[in-house]
Amino acid sequence: AMAMRITPSILNADLSNLSGEISRIPSADGVHLDVMDNHFVPNMTFGLPVVECIRKNTDAFLDIHLMIAQADRWAPAFAEAGAESVTFHVEAADAPIRLAREIRARGARASMALKPATPIEPYADMMPELDMVLLMTVEPGFGGQKFLDLVLPKIERTRELVKKTGQEIWIQVDGGVSLETIERCAAAGADTFVAGSAVYSAADPDKMVNDLRGKAVA
Ligand code: DX5
Ligand code: ZN
Repeated sequence: AMAMRITPSILNADLSNLSGEISRIPSADGVHLDVMDNHFVPNMTFGLPVVECIRKNTDAFLDIHLMIAQADRWAPAFAEAGAESVTFHVEAADAPIRLAREIRARGARASMALKPATPIEPYADMMPELDMVLLMTVEPGFGGQKFLDLVLPKIERTRELVKKTGQEIWIQVDGGVSLETIERCAAAGADTFVAGSAVYSAADPDKMVNDLRGKAVA
């Protein structure tokens, strides 16, 4: 069986107590941090200084999801801050190949995100530059939205492209992932799962992480 990773998003957690919220999910494979700028998405969260403080307070795998304009200008700094993985949106990157290389050169995994309506095919040839592809399963900007089934065929096509590279490139899904939808994502070829409201609205978030992992089989 494929190794499945659960990386909860703290977007809908208590943002005034980030270290405390991260310590509630010891079974997780990382913590997904949603950076929003009110330009790329109509919402605003936190930026580099907050991520630098989180880095000082936890050994957790930091999975940064940048939902910001001018990704080229900002993404390398998050790698420099010590994040293990930095995801930029291809819709916000001027030079995605150069940017992926800059992230890797700073010691982080390079990852590229696609909004639900953005096709993967134009980026097939740059897959070897990436350590992960993030496929949004809601329009980015907010937690608690309904999972978009229409992304499932793109997950399948991305899995085929990853196979062709012969490399171990993770496929992450983000948005509306829950006990109801995670099986479909895994069956389509995802191996890394962001869940925000499903984890942090649960009575026992760490148990939910394990329950989600139990359902993510392919
Ligand atoms: C949405 C963010 C997601 C969000 C997921 O734009 O990128 O990471 O927190 O939240 P849920 O799991 O509630 O859809
Ligand atoms: Zn996210």
